[in-house]
Amino acid sequence: MTLFAAIRLPQEILFGKGQRHALPLVAARLGRRALICTDQRFASTPLFSDIVKALEAASIAVLIHDDVQPDVPSETVAVCVEDARPFDPELVIGIGGGSCLDMAKCAALLLSHGGQLRDYYGEYKVPGPSLPIIALPTTAGTGSEVTPVAVVSDAERTLKVGISSPYLIPTAAVCDPELTMTCPPRLTAIAGADALTHAIEAFTAARRGADPLLAQDHVFIGKSALTDHFALLAVKLLGRSLEKAYRDGSDEDARADVMMGALAAGCAFGTAGTAAAHAIQYPAGALTHTAHGLGVATVMPYVMNFNRSASIAEMAEIGTALGLGQSPNREKLATAAIEEIRRLFAAIGITRTLADLGLAADKLDWTAEQAFGIDRLIKNNPRPFDLDAMKRLVRAAYEGDLAASAI
Ligand SMILES: NC(=O)c1ccc[n+]([C@@H]2O[C@H](COP(=O)([O-])OP(=O)(O)OC[C@H]3O[C@@H](n4cnc5c(N)ncnc54)[C@H](O)[C@@H]3O)[C@@H](O)[C@H]2O)c1
Ligand SMILES: [Fe+2]
Repeated sequence: MTLFAAIRLPQEILFGKGQRHALPLVAARLGRRALICTDQRFASTPLFSDIVKALEAASIAVLIHDDVQPDVPSETVAVCVEDARPFDPELVIGIGGGSCLDMAKCAALLLSHGGQLRDYYGEYKVPGPSLPIIALPTTAGTGSEVTPVAVVSDAERTLKVGISSPYLIPTAAVCDPELTMTCPPRLTAIAGADALTHAIEAFTAARRGADPLLAQDHVFIGKSALTDHFALLAVKLLGRSLEKAYRDGSDEDARADVMMGALAAGCAFGTAGTAAAHAIQYPAGALTHTAHGLGVATVMPYVMNFNRSASIAEMAEIGTALGLGQSPNREKLATAAIEEIRRLFAAIGITRTLADLGLAADKLDWTAEQAFGIDRLIKNNPRPFDLDAMKRLVRAAYEGDLAASAI
């Protein structure tokens, strides 16, 4: 096997308790007028007022857009950008969950290049660098602080859409686990499960390194030696602390592990990409109006079992990273890893089946067809699909039949 690696990351990643206090210095290197994208929840906190005061004390003028909505409806981006244009921002700061970070990416994109958001849907449609972005996550989940993608919802499309371009990678990610201390258990679980799913899908992604132009033609390019390193770190940190953070949100060490896990998972999947679990969530989430993290985690054990035969070595390594030991029997360890993910997700309240998620029985084929149509994710899956296989997998995840998902 030839060693292959590719990775794209922010210029600066800061992680640790209190790192938010570095924001004024980081921002001052990038400009003097900052558009801040956040939501009403965070804007009403003393933490936010302190951040704004610190920026102003560093002679950075700020314009606050505090109306980011979950899942970023595309028309809300246009409103933010129109409000911001007269201010002529030199940088954009996103503070909040993945939705606020994705809004910051979209705002930076349109402020720099004009046009409509839909002009950029897909891969490599962004023509050049955009305003610098600083991302400060307040959830531990999406990894958007380091990834090249912004996900939005568009009323004209059933499925959510992504804009994927290395130009959307934030210039700096400032990750302060204190900002996640207020996440209620359900949000901690759903965001953390999304992160663990990113790590697993990146680590088990297809090996596609043979084509030297792969990374020039595609944003998400499958597993590689460098993304593997981050993915395993993420599995280890989330495996040991996600349940703890869910049960006791005041556990600072667990919060730090989970946020670092989400960050590391973002570093992995931002280049490696995700695969079938994410493909199935897109249509399932659109039909059930359920959170992204809940949907991907619901189907993850079934997708792992489907992929098991193609990824025994990787699944066994995931088992070891989850603290299940180092058995020479990789088959057994791979099975144990799938069981452990299933147990962990159930323990933090993730729905066990697509039926529990609210998917209607007469929508299974449609869900499978839509998922199968998301080419960039399906190509990245380690075990190849045909439509019938996808239909069987979706049905197994609907019925909660783990054994059937392997067939
Ligand atoms: N760009 C990427 O790489 C990427 C990856 C995965 C998912 N996503 C997208 O990110 C979005 C989901 O992001 P998310 O899971 O972070 O949730 P979110 O940003 O949609 O926020 C969900 C809710 O949590 C609240 N919240 C955020 N931080 C909090 C805190 N510290 N304490 C209490 N409440 C808090 C928010 O106010 C909001 O009401 C989806 O649109 C998803 O598609 C993006
Ligand atoms: Fe995700």
